[in-house]
Amino acid sequence: MRTDLKTNAYSLPMPVMLAAAYSEDDTPSVMVVTWGGICTKYLDKIALNIDSFHKTARAISERMAFTVSVPDASHWKTVDYIGSVSGDDVPDKFTRSGLHAVRSRYVDAPVITDFPVSLECRVIDIAIHDMMRVTGQVINVSAEYSLLNDTDGIDALLYDNLRNSYISSGRVLGYAEKFRVR
Ligand SMILES: Cc1cc2nc3c(=O)[nH]c(=O)nc-3n(C[C@H](O)[C@H](O)[C@H](O)COP(=O)(O)O)c2cc1C
Repeated sequence: MRTDLKTNAYSLPMPVMLAAAYSEDDTPSVMVVTWGGICTKYLDKIALNIDSFHKTARAISERMAFTVSVPDASHWKTVDYIGSVSGDDVPDKFTRSGLHAVRSRYVDAPVITDFPVSLECRVIDIAIHDMMRVTGQVINVSAEYSLLNDTDGIDALLYDNLRNSYISSGRVLGYAEKFRVR
């Protein structure tokens, strides 16, 4: 039997992204973003839908740059901490999270080195709707070298917004025929 749910733009599962930018004191400010993703045909731009009051949102607007890290599933508790606590309340949130960062060589933003992939982005547009929609041009992508030849790929962290739970990307079922390399 089917039932109607509360109206909600469910897209299951959602990617878990960690958006990071330098705050005023030059320390990394980081937040969890699940409302976002690829927003152009050429795969070179990413959109984040974020509330403008977040410390990281202000940092992104001021520096006009940010990174997006794709966390692996094993880091879910760290990610949950980052998404539950504001750097406005806990100024050393990044240090407390146990994560590490280096400055991007391409944009004025921190690359978190604990995660397998980082998109280094320059802000090309900020639109204010009910949220702040930040569009970033991906300038560089850095990845953990050892993963490039790993046939299992990245066990990426995902978010199930029906159950408000973290899940892992799990096992490969098959490959998309349309995008098969011939
Ligand atoms: C699973 C999860 C997903 C989230 N997705 C978003 C999002 O897409 N947009 C947003 O503005 N906040 C989102 N948040 C909330 C922020 O990550 C959170 O408020 C964070 O503490 C802000 O940190 P800051 O104030 O230090 O920047 C999410 C939180 C969690 C736990």
